[in-house]
Amino acid sequence: MRQPVIVGNWKMHKTIRESIHFVEQLKPLIQSASCDIIVSPPFTSLSAASKATLDTQIKIGAQDLYWENSGAFTGEISPQMALEAGCRYVILGHSERRIIFGETSQSVSKKAAAAIAAGLIPIICLGEKEKERQSGKTHDVIGMQFRQSLASLTPEIVSHIILAYEPVWAIGTGMTATPQIAQEVHSYLRQLTIEMFNRSASDNVRLLYGGSVKPENISSLMVEKDIDGVLVGGASLKVESFAKIINFEIR
Ligand code: 13P
Repeated sequence: MRQPVIVGNWKMHKTIRESIHFVEQLKPLIQSASCDIIVSPPFTSLSAASKATLDTQIKIGAQDLYWENSGAFTGEISPQMALEAGCRYVILGHSERRIIFGETSQSVSKKAAAAIAAGLIPIICLGEKEKERQSGKTHDVIGMQFRQSLASLTPEIVSHIILAYEPVWAIGTGMTATPQIAQEVHSYLRQLTIEMFNRSASDNVRLLYGGSVKPENISSLMVEKDIDGVLVGGASLKVESFAKIINFEIR
């Protein structure tokens, strides 16, 4: 059985003060939740958010990191730094990093290996652009990103990581992929995991969907057999909507 997991990716939102206020408000609303809950604030808020959630089921994730332990890498943070700031998870290869900042699947693979070596669990993101879907290239693009981004991992490790399918055309657009579209790609990701790793890794790896997830569509997504959770952007910035998503019910 794969434990459901709900992740809030705050992107470049919320100061330290706002982050603490948010988690304090969220805490009483999620006490009966039965899923894993991860909040991913900007670097500056990691430490404060992790202190504010110490006694709760909320875990903290960074939004990126660099693969070296230390050195002359201005602007970067190491896996150890994220760990000491209280992180248990790290989002890697988000489409905004790939498109705006030139992140490649090769660097995602190095970052994933470094994160694991430090004891962090990577949440590796993949997803096709609208044009790629329209021209029937979704599987080619996802397959390539998958093989390259997971190149440094072993089957045992893949069993414990999280993958997030985030179609670029669905991010921040209000255009959620239908549960059927998401399920189809998730099932393809399980198949790819069998081919590149093994059946046990495929059965255990948790697959999230991301892209315009809201309280209104969470249940219809979570009902799909290969969707183990969601990666939420906009709707994770408001306590009410994020709490509703966390407390989803399968109807
Ligand atoms: P939205 O939920 O705002 O579409 O963002 C999705 C996302 O990019 C989460 O990582």
